[in-house]
Amino acid sequence: MKTLISAAVLFVSVMPAFATDIITIDFAESEDFGPYLTDGEGRPLYVFSTDIRATDDQLAELSCTSAECLDTWRMVITSDDPQAGEGVDASLLGTVEHNHRQIVTYDGRPLYYSASDDGSVSPQSDKLEAFGGAWELIGPDPAGTADIAAGEALFADACAQCHGRTGRGMASFPSLTGMEAADVAELLKQYRAGETIGPNSALMRPVAAALSDQDIANLSTFIAEEFP
Ligand code: HEC
Repeated sequence: MKTLISAAVLFVSVMPAFATDIITIDFAESEDFGPYLTDGEGRPLYVFSTDIRATDDQLAELSCTSAECLDTWRMVITSDDPQAGEGVDASLLGTVEHNHRQIVTYDGRPLYYSASDDGSVSPQSDKLEAFGGAWELIGPDPAGTADIAAGEALFADACAQCHGRTGRGMASFPSLTGMEAADVAELLKQYRAGETIGPNSALMRPVAAALSDQDIANLSTFIAEEFP
């Protein structure tokens, strides 16, 4: 039995980049890292912070392209639509095409295996800095848990130059004070979908296009809490 198990683990650890099977995405729960997505064999899956998310009309822009990176982080390939295991939101599953292969995405973000997890089904870390970005486990409900600190960091990077560090805005940049988190999230999703809200929506749309559902949850919670 023991030999059988390690043979199976070896098989999945060697195969992912070339597998032609339809993949199932499941999730597992770790005491240290909480819930995280796995493949059907229980192997942890990661997202890369510098990948640009896929939206309906645009392919994800992949940032792990060097041979060294692709050797360390292996794209999750499927031959057909990925299947959602129990507790995984099928509507968040998708694929993007890269080098004639279908890479599995969740919430628009390409999924990867970590070579450092090979032979093991428990993740070594929930966040690793490598190849110019962060490799993170992703939960089945990415928008369900807002991370205010991540929202604060992203606001300083991507929003403060227009809306001001305290969210009070200036001239044609509206104030974000006194808003409900749900309203901020709804507006960001509308801009992300390319909708026009005020006269200067063209300034907001490209910013919002880069945001994942998780980013929106983090930002809207931060804005509602910190800019009363
Ligand atoms: C390039 C400048 C710029 C940047 C960067 C920017 N915004 Fe905006 N934002 C605007 C402008 C201009 C508007 C008004 C758009 C319109 O007329 O529809 C706006 C509108 C908004 C609104 C709607 C406000 C309302 O009351 O209608 C929200 C919410 C918002 N931005 C959040 C953000 C967040 C969060 C970020 C960072 C991820 C961000 N913005 C980055 C310029 C910017």
